[in-house]
Amino acid sequence: MANTSLAFYYLARHRLSFKTFFFIPTTLALITTLFVLFYISSSTSHLLYFNHHHTHILYVSSKNPPTGSPSFPVSDPNVSKHQHPFVDLSNRSGGGGGGGRSVSQRSAIVDLGSNGNYMNNNEVFHDRDIFLEDYNWMNRSFRIYIYPHKRKDPFANVLLPVDFEPSGNYASESYFKKVLMKSHFITKDPAKADLFFLPFSIARLRHDPRIGSPGIQDFIRDYIVNISQKYPYWNRTNGADHFYVACHSIGRSAMEKAWKVKLNAIQVVCSSSYFLSGYITHKDASLPQIWPRKTDPPDLVSLKRKKLAFFAGAINSPVREKLLQLWRNDSEIYAHFGRLTTPYADELLGSKFCLHVKGFEVNTARIADSLYYGCVPVIIANHYDLPFADILNWKSFSVVVATLDIPLLKKILKGISSDKYLLLQRNVLKVRKHFQWHLSPVDYDAFYMVMYELWLRRNSIRLQLSTSIDSS
Ligand SMILES: *[C@@H]1O[C@H](CO)[C@@H](O)[C@H](O)[C@H]1NC(C)=O
Ligand SMILES: *[C@@H]1O[C@H](CO)[C@@H](O)[C@H](O)[C@H]1NC(C)=O
Ligand SMILES: *[C@@H]1O[C@H](CO)[C@@H](O)[C@H](O)[C@H]1NC(C)=O
Ligand SMILES: *[C@@H]1O[C@H](CO)[C@@H](O)[C@H](O)[C@H]1NC(C)=O
Ligand SMILES: *[C@@H]1O[C@H](CO)[C@@H](O)[C@H](O)[C@H]1NC(C)=O
Ligand SMILES: *[C@@H]1O[C@H](CO)[C@@H](O)[C@H](O)[C@H]1NC(C)=O
Repeated sequence: MANTSLAFYYLARHRLSFKTFFFIPTTLALITTLFVLFYISSSTSHLLYFNHHHTHILYVSSKNPPTGSPSFPVSDPNVSKHQHPFVDLSNRSGGGGGGGRSVSQRSAIVDLGSNGNYMNNNEVFHDRDIFLEDYNWMNRSFRIYIYPHKRKDPFANVLLPVDFEPSGNYASESYFKKVLMKSHFITKDPAKADLFFLPFSIARLRHDPRIGSPGIQDFIRDYIVNISQKYPYWNRTNGADHFYVACHSIGRSAMEKAWKVKLNAIQVVCSSSYFLSGYITHKDASLPQIWPRKTDPPDLVSLKRKKLAFFAGAINSPVREKLLQLWRNDSEIYAHFGRLTTPYADELLGSKFCLHVKGFEVNTARIADSLYYGCVPVIIANHYDLPFADILNWKSFSVVVATLDIPLLKKILKGISSDKYLLLQRNVLKVRKHFQWHLSPVDYDAFYMVMYELWLRRNSIRLQLSTSIDSS
């Protein structure tokens, strides 16, 4: 910059001199060269910076055992330190990269210590202050418009909230709609809406004898045609400011005949695997699968947890098969397949770690179950976009193990010091409340957390650039 002003100063002084004609091109060339050099040097350091991280992310560090003592649950040199689907967010490497601000901003910042290990990060939020500030803003200003349907609509059972308290494996979907409709986020004025809710229920469609699983795709297609003819809002953005919520995994193929929903709308779903073509990470959001439980467990802090790890479930995937093969007879890892003979809750209360192992889907209610019973979840499900990952730092209260590392499971879990375990468990108790539904929502519960995830996505609206996009 100094060069530039110097040059201008010089030019001003010698404006009329003959030498100027000679001087101007030379100076400009010099300045340009300086700028180019400056640009190259600054952007090279950027490139190197990111390459450096990429190398770290992509490498499985088997040839590269860490020198220092392991800093986080993943403690074997064989185990990739970078299998965790999320990167840290803290002040140190990114100069305070914003926690709740944007999804993409976060992925650029990888929190590595001086020797390449992850630093301890004990906070349950990526950035607590930003989350709380944004949460208040969201709570005050976020508005949702729901397409209205009457009680006498032939599909009222699918479009209106259920009139009983949701329960069971897919309760999250019904809970969300029921709570949303009574909440202060609703506006009757579409002009004030940030987002539009498509209120169909995948779970109810599935059980409706007029529709059933095979009819869901046609129903959704017709529904979108209907609202796009009756109202102007869908066409305005091709669906980008619309969202729906579904927990049953059948939802992932439900949009096959309504591809604009899949490509443009925000899909809030339990089966949030970024390995599936129906789910688009960052655009879509992960809905926690929560089996609502009534009886509040006893004092979770002082319980004696005698078993190292626990799993119960059917063998319905190669990942579970692998777990069975390796650990079925183990004296510390209790992997039960088939019917449990002891009460499920007792097992979760009596184990230090509770395994969430990919079955047909990446998602099951097991994560929420283990949090509920104060057991540290171990997630063995590759490509799972974990719920509330934009807000919560999963590394602070869970252990993520790549499916390839199942043979190392015991080594990994036993490698976690008792101090580290206590920290993980303390954080489990802190995040518990985010994985619970209430008919009248309670601040920071599952409902509000989903609203926050939606709020983060409210401005990601794709403008319609040409009418050709429109032809279907
Ligand atoms: C761990 O590393 C050793 C040697 O580096 C290798 O032989 C072994 O297969 C690895 N185990 C896994 C599960 O990757
Ligand atoms: C971030 O920076 C602020 C102020 O510099 C500090 O108070 C806070 O502890 C830092 N947070 C983390 C996670 O390092
Ligand atoms: C959010 O809004 C609701 C309804 O106005 C209110 O009851 C609640 O206290 C608010 N939460 C926060 C953290 O301000
Ligand atoms: C679409 O509108 C038609 C005509 O009003 C109605 O018969 C049909 O049930 C609607 N379909 C859906 C899926 O909303
Ligand atoms: C929205 O677009 C569809 C298809 O292009 C068209 O049939 C419909 O009439 C449009 N809706 C409105 C309200 O203009
Ligand atoms: C576990 O026990 C069963 C029978 O009790 C035996 O057939 C199987 O080989 C054992 N598996 C392992 C991995 O030790």
